[in-house]
Amino acid sequence: MTTTQAGFQRDATGQALLGGRPLLELLHEAGGATPAYFYDISGIEAGVASIVAAFRGEPHLVAYAVKANSAASIVAAVARQGAGVDAVSAGELTLARRVGVDPRRIVLSGVAKRDDELDLALREGILAVQAESVTELRRVAGRARALGARASVSLRINPSVEIDSHSHVATGHDDAKFGIAARDLDEALAVVAGEPTALALVGISTHVGSMLTSPEAYLESARAVCRVALEARARGHALTFVDFGGGFGIDYGKAPAATPATFVERALALKREQGLGDLMLVVEPGRSVVGPYGVLVARVVQAKQSGARRWLMLDAGMNDLIRPALYQASHRIEALDHPPGGAPYRVVGPICESADDFGDFAVGDVPRYVAIRDAGAYGFSMASEYNGRPLPREVFVEGGRLVKVSGGGDVEDWVRRRLEA
Ligand SMILES: Cc1ncc(COP(=O)(O)O)c(C=O)c1O
Repeated sequence: MTTTQAGFQRDATGQALLGGRPLLELLHEAGGATPAYFYDISGIEAGVASIVAAFRGEPHLVAYAVKANSAASIVAAVARQGAGVDAVSAGELTLARRVGVDPRRIVLSGVAKRDDELDLALREGILAVQAESVTELRRVAGRARALGARASVSLRINPSVEIDSHSHVATGHDDAKFGIAARDLDEALAVVAGEPTALALVGISTHVGSMLTSPEAYLESARAVCRVALEARARGHALTFVDFGGGFGIDYGKAPAATPATFVERALALKREQGLGDLMLVVEPGRSVVGPYGVLVARVVQAKQSGARRWLMLDAGMNDLIRPALYQASHRIEALDHPPGGAPYRVVGPICESADDFGDFAVGDVPRYVAIRDAGAYGFSMASEYNGRPLPREVFVEGGRLVKVSGGGDVEDWVRRRLEA
């Protein structure tokens, strides 16, 4: 399959496709239950392959940020294309290992890793625990001593760079809880130097934030990483990598974004310019790996007209896809049983919150089903059972064929579990 058929498309007759197959056909084949996420695994694989190819054989690790979507079928698909994993919890780390990801291709990030999570990382022998504070670095040393291990650590720095993104996804500015601030770096390097049997400094990392549509802020934060890496080397630390983080944006329909390959090419050039050409370059993309290759399919429960306002009410809500409520994000919505266009509706979910609102879309005369596009990342992984609604189903499509349907607990299942509480 070519990448031009990847993700959501319409054919010449206006029929909605995912990964080249009519979505309505796939929905029927999957049993018809909604809300359901549909993922184009072949599209995800082709996307990862294009990121890997952008390194042109230079030492690299594409550490897929599992938080974007932790479905084993997806983690396995990205691993098949040579990617590793950026995990942020014992759950994500264990999942990656069970899927078969090599521990040397896993990094563990997160501002407040628990002792049991540090212990797991040390036992598994992952590439690096990314320490986000001097306090955490000391805790890592303590756990390594207790286990008689030497921890491979990287310092995740706060690059002090503002990005043009929603405040909830900006992580590299002075007021963010993430990363080690410039003023604390001396102390961090001294802690590593003072613990030669417990700590080995192998990398310097950052993650400036998400939804970057052009590489400038990414490169500015990468420059900060390189400065610290040069300083660490000068102090005798045998680094093996620099990690410039994830954050490559995608086009949600409003503005095009630079491709992940463009970010990688510019990052490689910068690393070379800074005299660090021999170090492995780690990147941590999440959204760009899965976002464009997933849709959330919902059934239209009813329409409602009130004055001039025409509402379209879905069986999917903010519990299934929280991005519009959390980040004021806008996802394109398309009718599955009509060609695009038609009358505008305000599309909302069933949840008892005014924030349960997907925005204004022209979806034609009351369709039976709609697809909410570009929902592969931070969709299912942020879903909840709020309002007593079971988690949505997930349907995996590969080479245009339905290969797996998972989840989709029913009402009885939800009630039974809550009765146990
Ligand atoms: C440390 C870290 N790395 C990578 C990512 C992935 O970012 P994105 O999905 O924007 O590529 C995140 C997102 O929150 C993150 O916190």
